[in-house]
Amino acid sequence: MNSLRLKNVSKHYGAKQALNGLNVTFTDGICGLLGPNGAGKSTLMNIITQNITCDKGGEVMWNCVPIAKAGADYRAVIGFMPQQQELYPTFTARRFIGYIAALKGIEPKKISEETNRVLSLVELSDDADKRLGGFSGGMKQRVLIAQTLLGDPKLIILDEPTAGLDPKQRVITRNLIHDLSKDRIVIISTHIVSDIETIADRILLIKEGVIIDDGTVDELTQKVKEGEPCLENLYMQYYGES
Ligand SMILES: Nc1ncnc2c1ncn2[C@@H]1O[C@H](COP(=O)(O)OP(=O)(O)OP(=O)(O)O)[C@@H](O)[C@H]1O
Ligand SMILES: [Mg+2]
Repeated sequence: MNSLRLKNVSKHYGAKQALNGLNVTFTDGICGLLGPNGAGKSTLMNIITQNITCDKGGEVMWNCVPIAKAGADYRAVIGFMPQQQELYPTFTARRFIGYIAALKGIEPKKISEETNRVLSLVELSDDADKRLGGFSGGMKQRVLIAQTLLGDPKLIILDEPTAGLDPKQRVITRNLIHDLSKDRIVIISTHIVSDIETIADRILLIKEGVIIDDGTVDELTQKVKEGEPCLENLYMQYYGES
């Protein structure tokens, strides 16, 4: 069982407090991070993936070791899909995935097989040798999801992975994420309740840099005061006025 523990994690950007004293522990399974624009979801994911550091006094621990000390060992277990990412338009999907695999330190002789494996998982095998510049938005999203799966990561962080996908791809992506979640921690941010409602083992609701609720879908939906006990109504209860 893996654990990712955040202790008193805050983040200021100048006068703006994006995160305010978060304390939370993630364990194996899918955790949905739900919150409106500006809630702090991407900031949290960028801290977990070491793209930015949190304010002094906070700490992130991977399996009881501070990530600042774990260094490359920690980065090797992460698969990360940032919210906005430019793809190299002249690269083919295969070349792009191979390139990321090399950056991740995957053994050269395994790169070709690993590339085929992850492209097949996102149903892009037939497009592997086409240039990314000609891909649709949804195909690009799937290439970005594919690269997170390289090298069997134990911690997968997906920042709005379903943005721009059509309904069929949304379902395929949801099922793929669900299948992946065994023996690893998967954290997904979204504003789209239906993307995580059926697959998340746990949901964190975040508002203005603070975790305002945390539980399973069943636990959370029992808190709905008006209307059907569904996650969308809870979302409106918490965020409807903001
Ligand atoms: N580099 C930055 N410089 C200044 N302020 C920032 C920076 N990055 C984020 N912020 C601010 O921090 C807050 C949290 O932003 P963040 O991107 O983490 O939110 P989010 O929940 O991911 O939102 P969205 O759903 O729109 O992606 C926002 O008020 C945002 O304007
Ligand atoms: Mg974001």
